Amino acid sequence: MAMNAAAAPDAPLVYSAEEILTDPEVREPLVANGVRCHGGFDADGRYRSPRTRHRLPAIRAWQARLARDGDGLVDIPRALIPPQYPNAAQTKLLLREGVRDPVVRTLTMISIIEGFGAIIRDVRVPELGQLLIEPCDGTSLAHLGGGLFEAHARDEAGHRDQGGHKQMWEAARDLALENPTVPGDVLMRFMGRRNASRGRERAFPQLDEGLERMLQTMATVLVVEVFAENTFAWGQQVLSDPEVSADPGGAGAMVGYIRADENPHVEYLRTALSEVRARTLRSVAGGTIPGRTVVDGLLHRTLHSLTTERPRQQREDLRASLGESMRAARDPRHLAEEFDALETHWTPPARTGFEPVDPTS
Ligand SMILES: [Fe+2]
Ligand SMILES: [Fe+2]
Repeated sequence: MAMNAAAAPDAPLVYSAEEILTDPEVREPLVANGVRCHGGFDADGRYRSPRTRHRLPAIRAWQARLARDGDGLVDIPRALIPPQYPNAAQTKLLLREGVRDPVVRTLTMISIIEGFGAIIRDVRVPELGQLLIEPCDGTSLAHLGGGLFEAHARDEAGHRDQGGHKQMWEAARDLALENPTVPGDVLMRFMGRRNASRGRERAFPQLDEGLERMLQTMATVLVVEVFAENTFAWGQQVLSDPEVSADPGGAGAMVGYIRADENPHVEYLRTALSEVRARTLRSVAGGTIPGRTVVDGLLHRTLHSLTTERPRQQREDLRASLGESMRAARDPRHLAEEFDALETHWTPPARTGFEPVDPTS
């Protein structure tokens, strides 16, 4: 479902929050391993993502407007996406050897991270009219607090009686691995790591703090959403393999539905960041800063740290209990060697593509 800004559809540029949150028409709801989830299937049997009846045309219209104004749309280079650890070959090896615990942990961690995506609704949207020089009417920026953050939060964590991505990943895990026992310490480890990564210095202390915090969160979430593409590809590869999955059709399709739902997240975030990039921000001291300096600076900082930190964290998380789990195998030492030999070696590219421009050159 690629969105083509050049198509310039004439959908309206202004929506109520209710419209942004409206579901498309579906004939049949999505039920994941007995849990009613969001989204559903239309008359042609095609999966439709939740809350996209107006949200998708709206994003396309805002993108078309950026293109008409000659402003670019930020794009995270796919070469920056770190490989998933363990990779698909390593994961399948573990499952074939009856070592399920690390895979159950990884899938549970993914579902927890999805659920935490709901914090996007707690991001306070500051008075943009006072903090930006150019007006924001008819932009995605003007709709962040008016439906876009809320739709995103509901997609990730579920809403009322409908499960979201958290429940859909749990279903994919439980279908493929036949309702495995989930280790009790996955959430605790995740929380410990979250607390340890707090308290970073501000990149743009000359900006209104609320504005910087919102833009930093959006930049981080955009990068995490784009990086998740490798996780989804990994999930589909593993969970739809009949050799290691008990329900290759059902579990693989579930990951495919989640993947489709992520598209509007990536698209509205990069649209809104691009709209800021095309504007001028007021500093607290009464001066101005080009939006481009701020957005590129935040993306550069986020990409630089996540391309190095994320692969290391994933590896550490898994290896903390890998040796213990491998004892379930017939020949643990041989398995460990084979597992390590399959590792994907990867170094982040030297440049993020968002390096600050030297004003003297
Ligand atoms: Fe998600
Ligand atoms: Fe998402």
